Amino acid sequence: GIELGKLLATTGYTTLDGGFVNTASTKSAITYIDGDAGILRYRGYPIDQLAKESSFIEVSYLLIYGELPTSDQLEDFTDRIRRHTLLHEDLKRFFDGFPRNAHPMPVLSSAVNALSAYYQDSLDPFDPEQVELSTIRLLAKLPTIAAYAYKKSVGQPFLYPDNSKGYVENFLRMTFGLPAEPYEADPEVINALDMLLILHADHEQNCSTSTVRLVGSSDANLFTSISGGINALWGPLHGGANQAVLEMLDRIKDEGGDSADFLRRVKNKEDGVKLMGFGHRVYKNYDPRAAIVRETAHTILQKLGSNDELLEIALKLEEAALADDYFVERKLYPNVDFYTGLIYRAMGFPTRMFTVLFALGRLPGWIAHWQEMHQDPAGKIGRPRQIYTGYTEREYKGVNGR
Ligand code: ACO
Repeated sequence: GIELGKLLATTGYTTLDGGFVNTASTKSAITYIDGDAGILRYRGYPIDQLAKESSFIEVSYLLIYGELPTSDQLEDFTDRIRRHTLLHEDLKRFFDGFPRNAHPMPVLSSAVNALSAYYQDSLDPFDPEQVELSTIRLLAKLPTIAAYAYKKSVGQPFLYPDNSKGYVENFLRMTFGLPAEPYEADPEVINALDMLLILHADHEQNCSTSTVRLVGSSDANLFTSISGGINALWGPLHGGANQAVLEMLDRIKDEGGDSADFLRRVKNKEDGVKLMGFGHRVYKNYDPRAAIVRETAHTILQKLGSNDELLEIALKLEEAALADDYFVERKLYPNVDFYTGLIYRAMGFPTRMFTVLFALGRLPGWIAHWQEMHQDPAGKIGRPRQIYTGYTEREYKGVNGR
């Protein structure tokens, strides 16, 4: 890439690139994507190797610190996260203020923002020890907050974390467990969820990560910056797509399961209807994460004996779209979210929790980018320019003269 923007700034010209289609906002050494070849690597490691062989905690370490941990480093990192899973007791009451039918995403982002009020000893973006503490706190507390947001929505009591359990197992227990009953998560479900978190852990300068960087560029603290990212993720064109896919599949099923008719409506752009879970700003080829998720969807749905009808509709839609000129010409392929919702639903998560699961996965990526931005000595506050299209100068008239 070239630093055209800087060059043009000296000439008085401004570049206009709506949606940042071809504008790099930063240099970064975290994640590499080749959208035409369908390649995704975290810190140089191919996504399929990490998904098959690594763990979410290990990948979080890799993204944030740049290298895979040694066994001692991994043990120490896991242990530090384990010691911070509890939420301040007063923060627990914060959940009471939300209506029971609240979507868990605004509950999640509000509670994460509130961490800035409860943990004021780790807000300084320029103190490495404080940054480290807020990093560990976020990784440790987000599953607890996410599980509490869920418990609130179903009217069940909160469960304290059980730190004898692993990261994902603990989250599943806090989400689906009940105080008086023992809860054993299925090891295959634990492994599948761990893998899905890995697949979502980073994706370079997407909308939510760019938001985290932009908020953080004003030297706002890490908690607040991440809260901004969670809000950006909620939109149906970004992380909210996994919920939208399931709603679309449900709708097709309710209307008689005619996927061909649905595709016709998509192609005619009837009521702005889109094939949710298809298309990507960067991938103009099969999203490598979608290929892995597709396989997992088959295994998990078979194992849990869940709603196969929706999977059937999804497979038919995919097959028809991949053979259709409209989608071929526009290079529209399934993205990671096309199949994740089916897996989450089979695991027992309600549709509204899907984007929360995405946020859990994306957290280490957001943190890694926020830290990388602060480590850049040439870093500046994010401040795009505009092309003004409004009135030229007008003369003010008092209200009686208008
Ligand atoms: N269904 C039907 N048509 C589509 C779709 C789709 N899912 N996606 C793009 N198109 C069409 C557009 O209508 C446009 O057609 P046109 O040239 O005739 O007007 C063309 O393909 C190009 O699309 P753009 O909207 O310009 O592509 P952009 O890069 O801006 O959008 C996006 C990418 C937002 C992901 C888009 O493909 C989309 O809305 N997909 C559905 C939502 C979704 O699945 N989001 C998840 C993204 S991945 C993630 O966040 C993990």
